[in-house]
Amino acid sequence: MNARRNLRPVDADVSRLAADLRGQWAKRDIEAMASEAARNVSAGNATDWGMTTDIHSELEPIVLGGGIPAPETLPRKALMEAMDRALNTEERDDGPLRYGGAYGFEPLRDLLAQRYTRDRGFTVTSDWFMLSNGSAGAIDQVCATFIQPGDVVISEAPTFSGTTRTFRGHQAEIVTVSMDDDGMCVDELEPLIQSLQRQGKKIKFIYTISNFHNPMGVTLTLERRVELLKVAAKYGIFVLDDDAYGELYFEGVHHPPALSALSQCEGVISVGTFSKIIATGLRVGWIHATPNVIEQLVRMRFEMGNSPLLHRMLFEFSKDGALDAHIAKVRAIYQRKADLIAAGLREFCEPYVSFRRPNGGFFLWVDLLGGLNGGEVQQQAIIEGLVAAAGYGFFPDRVDTGNHIRLAYSWVPEDELREAARRLAIACAKVAEREALPKK
Ligand SMILES: Cc1ncc(COP(=O)(O)O)c(C=O)c1O
Repeated sequence: MNARRNLRPVDADVSRLAADLRGQWAKRDIEAMASEAARNVSAGNATDWGMTTDIHSELEPIVLGGGIPAPETLPRKALMEAMDRALNTEERDDGPLRYGGAYGFEPLRDLLAQRYTRDRGFTVTSDWFMLSNGSAGAIDQVCATFIQPGDVVISEAPTFSGTTRTFRGHQAEIVTVSMDDDGMCVDELEPLIQSLQRQGKKIKFIYTISNFHNPMGVTLTLERRVELLKVAAKYGIFVLDDDAYGELYFEGVHHPPALSALSQCEGVISVGTFSKIIATGLRVGWIHATPNVIEQLVRMRFEMGNSPLLHRMLFEFSKDGALDAHIAKVRAIYQRKADLIAAGLREFCEPYVSFRRPNGGFFLWVDLLGGLNGGEVQQQAIIEGLVAAAGYGFFPDRVDTGNHIRLAYSWVPEDELREAARRLAIACAKVAEREALPKK
């Protein structure tokens, strides 16, 4: 009663307030108020795989657009049970619902440390890990700590466009090196570094997606890994290894040791994520580096860490080998999907494409032959009922050095993959036909 009476005198002002403010704010240019860093970044979603919205298809589209785990792999029940265990603590234990600190939940970091020690052949402990908001958040944190506006980052081209945005957001200059079927063309590095240094530039990172690359699906060879580590160390440049897909290797192929294993993290900052092995909606990833690097990263963490509740849920989900069992299951599913899309491409698309079936991960990079343009094939494919990314979106300057389409086969039901290849073939044929017509 009292509270209502106290409010009454200002009621009239309040009713006009928002309209008055709207009038005043309508005159302001919000974009001009944004920082130079924000203006450096194009608006839009973080992955930017070039989906055009103004083309429509008669058919229900098959979507090979984003690198997302398959719906049938999402462990809903196990996550719910894990959440139940995470929350089901003594009344006085409010840990899951209280700020968790900058490093992230210690037992989950410890679990990661045990898996890395087992899989990468040198002993690490929880202080070699910091939990983050996915691997995208991890890269943002690394940039916030080490990048001064104007610093140079050497990146593969093509690369994951989300990271390109992050580098731009930190006002780094992005300089690129080429890629081929063996990963980054590391022989380009030393002359490039020397030339940049002659121009007085400071190079902070060499950014690589060393395992099952996005968008190319390829893996950096052992020889190139060694060369990359040597060159980076010679010039005092960190290797930033985005290892989002490293756990999703297929059977029957030899996989080179991780960059962090070869270097024992000397000069290497590696980021990982639960996004691709479990679910992108979790938004939990990690940074793996030597403790003195982690210490610097923690200094620049201002958002009070990420969710202790989710960290505990993930710990409950992952413990006692359950994460390993889950990953083994999903690997087999993605291997089957990669085989199916590759078989479909061989069956239908042969005259128009060449490709390499990846040895892990979510992506198959299609090289369009005969001068077929990636953007045009992408647009025609949408009309034919297939959504896929055109290659140019993965190059920092948005110019595809070849003609490419990226097929993300992870999310699509197995029984649609052959049909997806058939639709791609129709799109290629129609674009080729158009190209062959005499120009008016
Ligand atoms: C190479 C690469 N790095 C990072 C990310 C971002 O993943 P996260 O969900 O862990 O932030 C993606 C997502 O597509 C990716 O492909």
